[in-house]
Amino acid sequence: MPKGKYFYDDPVLRQRTDARAQTIQIGIDEMYHALQLGIVLIQMGAEPSFGTDEVVRSPQIIDNLRRDKLTEEMVTDLYQSAEIEPGAFPKVENMVWNISYDEVRHIDQFAAMIAAIESAGEAGAVCFRPHPDRERREDLKLIHEVCRTENELTHRYLRYVMMFSEHQDLSQRLFKNSVNHMRHWDKLSGILVKMGDVVAIENASADAAGVERSPRPMPVDYPGTGRLTALETLLPSEQGLVAKYEAALGLGLAEEIQAQIKLHLALTREHVFTQDKLLENARRIGVPDA
Ligand SMILES: [Fe+2]
Ligand SMILES: [Fe+2]
Repeated sequence: MPKGKYFYDDPVLRQRTDARAQTIQIGIDEMYHALQLGIVLIQMGAEPSFGTDEVVRSPQIIDNLRRDKLTEEMVTDLYQSAEIEPGAFPKVENMVWNISYDEVRHIDQFAAMIAAIESAGEAGAVCFRPHPDRERREDLKLIHEVCRTENELTHRYLRYVMMFSEHQDLSQRLFKNSVNHMRHWDKLSGILVKMGDVVAIENASADAAGVERSPRPMPVDYPGTGRLTALETLLPSEQGLVAKYEAALGLGLAEEIQAQIKLHLALTREHVFTQDKLLENARRIGVPDA
């Protein structure tokens, strides 16, 4: 949705707030929830995944916000009705209640956004739409491919943060890289808008009304079963991303877009350096591969 266009009175922040900006903040809250739950699952000896229900994007902004609000209501109910043996897992029980109140806040925030858009007579406002030539234009294809890679690396790092959460040094370094990739993904979404397109929902198909649905919006493949094998897979992925950014600089895009891409390229080169050393040091010390 457009930046700085749809404002609402936030019931918690008690400020006039950009609906888009707050929706991003809510998305970040959800990443923390996924991370917290993933770490608990690892501690229980289970396997976390990013498998998800169908993700839907409707052409009209308000339909997406209404669906978001419904999802928040559903998940609040799941957390608050969880049956946990009293006193058996006090920290997990505490976590579940803490998360549930983030969801309660999200419900109130989405409700306020929906009401503000309705009362401004903007219920028909539409999201940015896919560029009709996105499959044919080399520049758009490459930026979408970079975007897809950023999404993949965001999730792969996050998955390894869960797997190695008891190794605080390693997991915090991986977390930093996950967040960097997420920021780049977000910035690339902005670049796509400047190019007259919009970030893709991976593996989505659209119906006649333009509603996109994806059963697999997030990467499903997480190579690497232990510390060494996981680190071994990250280095070539980062190197591949550097090559894609270098290719993107050859597209002759607008100067401000090139400047943004250069920032991403520089930080990705930092990741190549860091990941190379994390791998080298893991081999040097011989930390057990699990
Ligand atoms: Fe959540
Ligand atoms: Fe939420």
